[in-house]
Amino acid sequence: MTTDSTADAVACTGLAYAFGDTKAVDGLDLTVREGEVFGLLGPNGAGKTTAIRCVTTLLPVPSGMVRVFGHDAAGDRMAVRRLLGYVPQQLSADSGLTGRENVSLFARVFDVPRRERAARVGQALGAVGLTDAADRLAGTYSGGMVRRLELAQALVSAPRLLILDEPTIGLDPIARTGVWEHITAVREATGMTVLVTTHYMDEADQYCDRVGLMHRGRIRALGTPAELRQGLGERRRAEGAPATAPLPTLEDVFREVAGSGLDEQAGDFRDVRSTRRTAQRVG
Ligand SMILES: Nc1ncnc2c1ncn2[C@@H]1O[C@H](COP(=O)(O)OP(=O)(O)OP(=O)(O)O)[C@@H](O)[C@H]1O
Ligand SMILES: [Mg+2]
Repeated sequence: MTTDSTADAVACTGLAYAFGDTKAVDGLDLTVREGEVFGLLGPNGAGKTTAIRCVTTLLPVPSGMVRVFGHDAAGDRMAVRRLLGYVPQQLSADSGLTGRENVSLFARVFDVPRRERAARVGQALGAVGLTDAADRLAGTYSGGMVRRLELAQALVSAPRLLILDEPTIGLDPIARTGVWEHITAVREATGMTVLVTTHYMDEADQYCDRVGLMHRGRIRALGTPAELRQGLGERRRAEGAPATAPLPTLEDVFREVAGSGLDEQAGDFRDVRSTRRTAQRVG
């Protein structure tokens, strides 16, 4: 091996996780490079959340290897936890507390030193545009504000790796843009790495440096959004599509992977094409 795995924010090798007979993650190889925004995409049930929960140490690593900045998620859980901030798919803010109280709670849990706490909580709320609403109950917030509050909760410990599981689900387009603008601003200011899942292909295309398309527990296509779009365009032309055909979108790439009748043996992206069936509705 010539690569220095300690330089990667996340390195999963052969990660597998099963719930009973359900192989939620099935031999996942995934590398997230330091400083990038990596989008983990894939249909419902692909195994994204399960994989992420293994990376965050919320689930054990029964098989394979997960490293976060070189620290083994199985053997050195506390070291991993100290490096990351996590916004789960489910609601994690308490509606009965104010925004500031919610973020303060996370600051305490993540051992932000007591004397720095008030300032750091204020900074985190400011970074997501919630300074004015900080002392209102979170129960009065709009969906977009709640998601930004959860972002502040995850940011208050100044993580090197921010993991967001569907941070914009259910938000209107303006609120979605707002969430991404705050993520982008913090990342530019701190150099933090971001691992994000989303079902919105336009967001992945616009904001992710690289994306991995997960299906049935494994990455089936990997690259920059442009590489994946161009690759599909080339395959379509090789199959006889006219040169004037519209360029494929990331959603087309998603449909090609997720709509395929992929069997467990299917190895790489080219195999997907040959086993492709009519795109299924995945939402
Ligand atoms: N706690 C659980 N108990 C049993 N099965 C589970 C559990 N959590 C997830 N699964 C199953 O594991 C598989 C992967 O689920 P996971 O939530 O990781 O997918 P996902 O890619 O995050 O999907 P979504 O896009 O819907 O969030 C699915 O078949 C799911 O039903
Ligand atoms: Mg999920």
